[in-house]
Amino acid sequence: MVTQLEQLDEIEQSAQASLASVQDPEALEGWRVAYLGRSSPLMQAFDRLGQMPKEERPAVGRRANQVKQALEAAYAEKAEELRQAGLRRSLQAERLDVTLPGRPITRGRLHPTTQTMRAIYRIFAEMGFQVYLSRDVETDEVNFQLLNFPPHHPAREMQDSFYLAGSDPDNPVILRTHTSPGQIRAMREFAAENPDNPPPVRIILPGMCYRYEQVTARAEFQFTQVEGLAVGKRITFSDLKGTLSDFARRMFGQQVRSRFRASHFPFTEPSAEMDIECFVCGGQGCPVCKRTGWLEILGCGMVHPTVLRNGGYDPEVYTGFAFGMGPERIAMLRHRIEDIRYFWANDLRFLEQF
Ligand code: PHE
Repeated sequence: MVTQLEQLDEIEQSAQASLASVQDPEALEGWRVAYLGRSSPLMQAFDRLGQMPKEERPAVGRRANQVKQALEAAYAEKAEELRQAGLRRSLQAERLDVTLPGRPITRGRLHPTTQTMRAIYRIFAEMGFQVYLSRDVETDEVNFQLLNFPPHHPAREMQDSFYLAGSDPDNPVILRTHTSPGQIRAMREFAAENPDNPPPVRIILPGMCYRYEQVTARAEFQFTQVEGLAVGKRITFSDLKGTLSDFARRMFGQQVRSRFRASHFPFTEPSAEMDIECFVCGGQGCPVCKRTGWLEILGCGMVHPTVLRNGGYDPEVYTGFAFGMGPERIAMLRHRIEDIRYFWANDLRFLEQF
């Protein structure tokens, strides 16, 4: 009987010792099979009870039960310990630091040119002008000839425009060099509605223009323009001055003064350039206005009779005014941007400032 009890002690000791080194659920299951499973030494000890002398059975049986309970309790404790350790490990692995600063959501915004163009549209919309979209790809005829450019005007040289290779040499396909050809297309479309008595025109024509130019801080080969055209009966130069002076006040501030200087464009007569008082120095003279106190912002004039006729409007009956401005140039003045190349460089450090 002594040996039976000693054997049970040994089973318990070696089971407890082995359990101490168990580190994971798989090893624990192996341990359970080895020490509490069907063919474990402990279960064999239970099986042998039946063959033992009657008087020895109770003591050995009691001891076997004690060992079984002790091992089951140790097993449960170890299982719980491993479960906790597993939880800690996964918390560690999926660690969430709620004190980390959030990742900023980058919000898109409108390009500075688009912002400027929309400010221009808004002002002219209030004055009753509608937006007319003309084409970027033009013919020499509409871009130059119908706008009264003489045959050998320097703007028509290959050096100044993008020409489509292989197009008709008498009327090559080009990228428009200004938005003014839209005047012809719009007038023709409106005149076609009622050729004998064409309707009045009040439009702005925004869009991209292209010039085959050396790219510098002041010149890009693509840039936007907003053209304006008003055609009707009894439109005078004072309508042009009133409309554009009002535009300048709405765009640059009610205080701003403007002036018109005589100029020349083949498609307007008379022609002028409009300056506004420099808003940087208030007209005192500074580097932005090159010490003149004035900033040039647009070209304008009364629509040339030949252009009216080419658009289907009888110059004996109709008059009109036109103007053209560069949104990039206006944005450069407003925001003191020193290099026009920033507009197309796609550099977020520039774009994010607007
Ligand atoms: N098209 C001219 C330019 O690109 C600007 C302009 C438009 C001038 C309309 C007069 C009238 O410089």
